[in-house]
Amino acid sequence: MSNKITLSVIKADIGGFVGHSSVRPELMEKANECLAKAEFLEDFHVTHVGDDLNLIMTHRLGEENQQVHQLAWNTFLACTEIAKKMKLYGAGQDLLADAFSGNVKGMGPGVAEMEFEERKSEPVIVFAADKTEPGAWNFPLYKIFADPFNTIGLVIDPKMHEGFLFEVHDLRENKKVVFSLPEELYDLLVFIGAPGRFAVKSVYKKDGTIAATSSTQKLNFLAGKYVGKDDPVCIVRCQSGLPAVGEVLEPFANPHLVSGWMRGSHSGPLMPVSVKHSNPTRFDGPPRVIGLGFQIAEGKLIGPQDFFEDVAYDKAREKANEIANYMRSLGPFEPHRLNLDEMEYTTMPGVLNKLKDRFADIDDSSDEVAAAKE
Ligand code: F6R
Ligand code: MG
Ligand code: MG
Repeated sequence: MSNKITLSVIKADIGGFVGHSSVRPELMEKANECLAKAEFLEDFHVTHVGDDLNLIMTHRLGEENQQVHQLAWNTFLACTEIAKKMKLYGAGQDLLADAFSGNVKGMGPGVAEMEFEERKSEPVIVFAADKTEPGAWNFPLYKIFADPFNTIGLVIDPKMHEGFLFEVHDLRENKKVVFSLPEELYDLLVFIGAPGRFAVKSVYKKDGTIAATSSTQKLNFLAGKYVGKDDPVCIVRCQSGLPAVGEVLEPFANPHLVSGWMRGSHSGPLMPVSVKHSNPTRFDGPPRVIGLGFQIAEGKLIGPQDFFEDVAYDKAREKANEIANYMRSLGPFEPHRLNLDEMEYTTMPGVLNKLKDRFADIDDSSDEVAAAKE
């Protein structure tokens, strides 16, 4: 048997409980039931972050495999049926297409997949976030694979010293570019510092070995209108020439600002939490991230280890709450509210459109004030 294993993480929001905050246990049970029937899976784990249902699966069929994608799609459909009966909020909201067409990419769900040769020991971490967007991984992936202040292995582990390759996607223009780090660090930052448009899709060792990959679907670009944010997932392999588990978790100790809070229109801190604490509340947030560790053994998922359950992340949560207080105090003003470019992908253009005829030339003296003076 090939020692190559594929780890596929496919997620969708197919109905929230209550509002956009969580996933009902009935949906998780149904998903477990559906995946348990699939003999081609080596193993699976069903979880959620906020209102997003995550299917974590291992198999030997490779990336973008039709059977695996069909299974995920059918599972989401079966769960949607329950969500509709319970009138859960936004039941089926991420299933944009009417029928499955071979690959869930571009049909609504988020996908992160990697195929690799299983090492002597294979530690991986699956991250999943709610109330944010794919570019939210740019900051942590940069810290993990390019910043020696975060990852000391870049300096002192001979197997990491040469650096990594970053594949960056332009989500608006549908183009990709690969940067070689550390040589092209400044070039990389020009782009990934703008996470609303550019997202790190994957990170590779210099010999092409996959190290990390994320979901980069943009629902709004796909649907052509606002249909919610694309709460993203990301897989990172760890240890033995790759960043240590602790180096991979380290960036989340400093909650960075991400887009996607309330109505997909606000910026807020990404708070690291356990699965149990992943349900957004305040102002539909603040945005949350979970990190689940697994040891993969002959395709089996040994785990999960719910990393952010740890008290070592208490201070990060406290800090996130403080930042959340400050950002909320700005109310409808930028930079809490996203800039106009980003708001183009929310429900606001509808309001702008209604007001467009109210605008007159600045030199026009026959405005409402002039009329009031008469
Ligand atoms: C943010 C999010 C929520 C909703 C908000 C309004 O990503 O999902 O904040 O945008 O609850 O939802 P609707 O428009 O469905 O009432
Ligand atoms: Mg939702
Ligand atoms: Mg969500």
